[in-house]
Amino acid sequence: MCGIIGYTGHRPAVPLVMEGLKRLEYRGYDSSGVCFVQNRELHVIRAEGKLKLLEDKLAGREVSLSTTAMGHTRWATHGAPTEDNAHPHLSCYGKLAIVHNGIIENYQERKNDLLSKGVRFSSETDTEVLVNCIEDELKPGLSLLEAFAGALQKAHGAYALALLSPDEPNVVYAARQSAPLLLGIGAGENFVASDIPAFLPFTRDVVFLEDGEIVRITPTSWEVFSIDTLQPLEKKPQRIEWDLQAAQKGGFKHFMLKEIFEQPRAIADCMSGRVNLERLEVSIPELDSADAPARLRVIACGTSYNAGLWAMPLMEQWAGIPTTVEIASEFRYRNALLSPGELALVISQSGETADTLAALRIARQQGCPVLGLCNVIGSSIAREADMVVFTQAGPEVSVASTKALSSQMVVLLLMALYWGRKKKTLDRETLRQALRGLAALPTQLESLMPSLNDEARRMAARFSSCRGMFFLGRGQSYPLALEGALKVKELSYIHAEGYAAGEMKHGPIALVDPEFPSFFIAPHDDLFAKSKSNLEEVAARSGPVIALTNPPKPGMELRGGESWILPDAWGPLSGFLMLPAIQLFSYEAATLLGKDVDQPRNLAKSVTVE
Ligand code: G6P
Repeated sequence: MCGIIGYTGHRPAVPLVMEGLKRLEYRGYDSSGVCFVQNRELHVIRAEGKLKLLEDKLAGREVSLSTTAMGHTRWATHGAPTEDNAHPHLSCYGKLAIVHNGIIENYQERKNDLLSKGVRFSSETDTEVLVNCIEDELKPGLSLLEAFAGALQKAHGAYALALLSPDEPNVVYAARQSAPLLLGIGAGENFVASDIPAFLPFTRDVVFLEDGEIVRITPTSWEVFSIDTLQPLEKKPQRIEWDLQAAQKGGFKHFMLKEIFEQPRAIADCMSGRVNLERLEVSIPELDSADAPARLRVIACGTSYNAGLWAMPLMEQWAGIPTTVEIASEFRYRNALLSPGELALVISQSGETADTLAALRIARQQGCPVLGLCNVIGSSIAREADMVVFTQAGPEVSVASTKALSSQMVVLLLMALYWGRKKKTLDRETLRQALRGLAALPTQLESLMPSLNDEARRMAARFSSCRGMFFLGRGQSYPLALEGALKVKELSYIHAEGYAAGEMKHGPIALVDPEFPSFFIAPHDDLFAKSKSNLEEVAARSGPVIALTNPPKPGMELRGGESWILPDAWGPLSGFLMLPAIQLFSYEAATLLGKDVDQPRNLAKSVTVE
């Protein structure tokens, strides 16, 4: 969702800001723009569509002299993705320019007030209202910092903002409330941005801003203040250890494909330091200070929600913890009751998803301790949770989440083992099987990936022309079915329904016909015979079938349809082999249909609005 970068320093600022915007493209956007200060004037250039179109517009302009600029990629909220609605927005009298990620909820009320004062607007955005509110506050004797803070005190909603004024040509102001924003500290140059890759080629020293903070940067200084009091705040830069290589395509055609292939590594990294095979021990020091919870409430969105559903039976069977899994956007508005002893477990790759963050805050208000499972260090959820465990999957760039899910599944499985041992509900043999199997997974999956990809391509060629399809599974294969359908929808825009295979006959089976394939996730687990019956019900109605399953054994042969055979794996570990297969199937289908795999239409990587 919207990407922001602001720069002031000694380099030509516009090319630097354009490069930064390219590294934020993964967030999803539909228009873009830059603003730079030259000869004490603000210059704004904006374009609909991809960054290439903005680059074309900049091509004829003399921009090399400017050393202060900001840029924005917009994911439309208020008003269509047109050039007029693209950011940066200038104030009515041209004294200020702003870029914004988020939503100003009381913008209409503020707009009416400004209209009555003669302010004219050229866009439908809440952002243009905000920049005019700041200009309205700029009274003689007040600094821009004071006017900016004054306007923000009256604005309700979510924002990450950067602000420029021609009167202070080497200064960038920025502020944050419920949307990500970071400071990059360089030598003779400073940055603000929505995410680290935007400025990582220039500095590794980062200050994570908190809600309610406002910032002033010049090439040689940076200061952080409270929006409410304008008191200076003490902040400590942190050093980023990963490099840009980790956030680049590395020879793969798409980030998504690279990230699918990174799963063996992500699984290994998630286990590293947490598993001791010789002593059959799981250590998660982040959880040591508390008892195992009496109940677990897992709250998340999208793919992270599917991770929670997948883990539910492990928490219940191994750790004896009654577990419920909820969609964050539902949880936050239903006055949910959390019981004493319950632990809220919020799962989020980005750590910035607005609904998940709101659910976290509600749980904390009810006095319920919150454990965050996040991939991004320094993210809002990581900072606000009482305890946090990191997935260590490395940066995930493609909008559709892939390796984050495998890594969440690993950590959740380890948590179930950890609590199971702590509560003595887990027998040693299960622990041994789980840890041995997990330790072998990275190598096994690594060698399997090329053949999975070939088979996925073959299956996609056969089925990607369908008008719609089912993904069906039971038990722990049900969340994988939901994930398969989600991936196919997200990437190829084919209508796909994920369903519990046993529930299918209560309505959805009416959709089955020779043009509507069903993708069964049917490993040889305890529920295989049940899935087999469902599969045969579909085949009997002339529905094409793909079955992701294990090598046939006597009495376990599947009749009808295409079998996609994967090696046997112990219990829940089969999910780690099945998951890349469905990810690759959706990737290949989308590629065959010519879709924009890394940035699917209408989607954003980090959904910072509700
Ligand atoms: C967006 C992404 C999904 C992701 C979901 C939750 O919708 O496109 O891929 O699963 O957000 O994101 P989170 O960062 O909270 O896991």
